Amino acid sequence: RVTRNFIDNLPKAELHVHLEGTLEPELRLKLARKNHIDIGTDSLETLKATYHYDTLASFLAVYYSALDVLQTESDFYDLAFTYLKKVHENNVQHVEMFFDPQAHTSRKISFETVINGFSKAAEDAKKFGVDAQLIMCFLRDFSKESARKSLEAAKPYQDKILGIGLDSDEHNNPPLKFATAFDNAVSEGYHITMHADVDQVDSIDHIKQALEIIGVERLDHGTNIVENPDLVDFVSTNKIGLTSCPNSNQFLSQDMKGAEVKTLLDRDVKVSINSDDPAYFGGYINDNYWSITKNYELTQEQVVQLAKNSFETAWISDSQKNNYM
Ligand code: HPA
Ligand code: ZN
Repeated sequence: RVTRNFIDNLPKAELHVHLEGTLEPELRLKLARKNHIDIGTDSLETLKATYHYDTLASFLAVYYSALDVLQTESDFYDLAFTYLKKVHENNVQHVEMFFDPQAHTSRKISFETVINGFSKAAEDAKKFGVDAQLIMCFLRDFSKESARKSLEAAKPYQDKILGIGLDSDEHNNPPLKFATAFDNAVSEGYHITMHADVDQVDSIDHIKQALEIIGVERLDHGTNIVENPDLVDFVSTNKIGLTSCPNSNQFLSQDMKGAEVKTLLDRDVKVSINSDDPAYFGGYINDNYWSITKNYELTQEQVVQLAKNSFETAWISDSQKNNYM
């Protein structure tokens, strides 16, 4: 039997976490008070009672509205640094963190404020031995022109950004809408990945576009490829990483996709376990490893393989991988 202690002590990488999704109600309230922003209540209990969601769309509504409290560079720093301390506690050596600049520039916070706060926190995490990198996401429910502008805004900060991702509401927002933006991102030297949230409309079509046309290096979620043997062969052969997030899937799809993860492990797919939006889905990365291990009776070998996959599909050099594994 795998114990919680075994999971806690296992070295691992986290590849799918949204920094904005690490905003705990406590920090939200603290920043609201500091920045004099009315969030409807001054009580933590009342605030927590507003956190209702059981679909991607209903979750995103709460997630975006919570961001109003983030105003200054130090707010972005505090958000990321608070999360990075958790990363260290969870025995995560390497983390690639998503952030959503358009969710801030659209409310008149400058790109510079966001990237400086986040990247300074990443720099300071080196002090406790955590290697933290940033992945900038395009919001897929915004226009492709907005994505183009966001990529342009990132240019002066390219040394601080490892890759480009795609998140937010998938419905009617297929990967191909952003084909040009992702082509440009690759030409500029970024790694690329995209969300394929579980149980979305046209999911398999979207996954085919992401893998076969855009050429992503990883898929975020994407575990429903098990229904399509050709896609399973494709991701296995091409060593595409799938970043699964059990607690998030449980919340938004009422299914943590444990059976799918086990099937993918059996087929040699490089699937990993991640927290997605830990402040919203009841736990950080070790809680996610524990949920799936306990509910689907994973063996020690399977748990070790999941952690190994996280390093193998991380955007780090082979020598860095060898150091961690
Ligand atoms: N899916 C899509 N977009 C997101 C998510 C997610 O889980 N979290 C934050 N933005
Ligand atoms: Zn996500």
